[in-house]
Amino acid sequence: MTILLTGVAGFVGMHVAKRLLANGFKVFGIDNITSYYDVALKKGRLQELEPYADFEFQKVDIADEESLKTALSGREIHYVVHLAAQAGVRYSLENPHSYAHSNLTGFLNILEFCRHNSNLQHFIYASSSSVYGGNKELPYSTDQSVDRPVSLYAATKKSNELMAHSYSHLYRIPSTGLRFFTVYGPWGRPDMAYWLFTEAMLAGKTIKIFNNGDMKRDFTYIDDVVDGVVKLLPVAPQDKGMEQPPYRVVNIGNNKPEALMELVSTLEKTLDVKANLEFLPMQKGDVKETFANIDPMRELVGYEPQTSLAQGIPLFVDWYREFIERE
Ligand SMILES: NC(=O)c1ccc[n+]([C@@H]2O[C@H](COP(=O)([O-])OP(=O)(O)OC[C@H]3O[C@@H](n4cnc5c(N)ncnc54)[C@H](O)[C@@H]3O)[C@@H](O)[C@H]2O)c1
Repeated sequence: MTILLTGVAGFVGMHVAKRLLANGFKVFGIDNITSYYDVALKKGRLQELEPYADFEFQKVDIADEESLKTALSGREIHYVVHLAAQAGVRYSLENPHSYAHSNLTGFLNILEFCRHNSNLQHFIYASSSSVYGGNKELPYSTDQSVDRPVSLYAATKKSNELMAHSYSHLYRIPSTGLRFFTVYGPWGRPDMAYWLFTEAMLAGKTIKIFNNGDMKRDFTYIDDVVDGVVKLLPVAPQDKGMEQPPYRVVNIGNNKPEALMELVSTLEKTLDVKANLEFLPMQKGDVKETFANIDPMRELVGYEPQTSLAQGIPLFVDWYREFIERE
């Protein structure tokens, strides 16, 4: 069984690829290695995958229709795990066009590939908890309306769900959208709070605490996210006729929101460093709290997150120290 995995040089992509390869799948990974953050980190992730004989990589921009077609021509692909995207809420305020490029045009090109691929068994793609915007009802459930995104990033992710629905309806493509909740762990993303805080605290610099620290996140450890994705792969939604296309969206979270200040104190303990804090107002586009209802994932595939923030942060810090020394 061969999987097309987009965004394979990314944080989640590398970990998902590694698990799939260990489980005996063949992985064709693509990524255009954007310079949104340090490309050395992306190259380091690809090096982690090199030892696997069943891994193949090509540098491809998914928004470039012709290059994508050339890269995929003649390949037998059974599953598509689509994780390539321009990520980040804050960056979407400064660079809106890169979101349209990767998350809208790129997403459409991947859908078109799915449409014309008769071997396809399941199309899985990354959405985001950010689609819940300013919803007040917690925990966030996929039954809630998510029509009020508060960032362009969230708007593109919600658009992906709508686009996937139309293709599931028109071409009966079995699709599952994954609303990830603040994923963290080794090989993580340098634009996210846990990394920025670690870096600043080790350098004796001040860390910025938005909304005066009154924020909560459903921090989800990378191995738990990978578990969710890998368990879902063989469980494609069923086609129940024209009224119900083979389409679903699920939350992949930890089901245990933690205060931002809890992240800070966990890092202080792990690093043995006292943080210097600068309290600031809420940032534009941000949300105050995230909290995933994961009951549908429990019922569907027996998903149960295993790693608390107190366990996961030391695992990230161990990796971070080693990585920084190697650089
Ligand atoms: N990490 C999280 O907390 C989180 C939360 C919610 C949703 N997500 C979503 O999960 C997915 C994976 O996120 P991540 O944290 O691994 O991000 P990441 O930035 O580490 O990985 C995304 C990868 O996609 C690649 N990419 C971007 N545009 C591309 C294009 N046009 N063509 C080919 N490759 C392209 C990038 O080079 C990068 O390697 C993304 O879709 C993201 O929006 C992540």
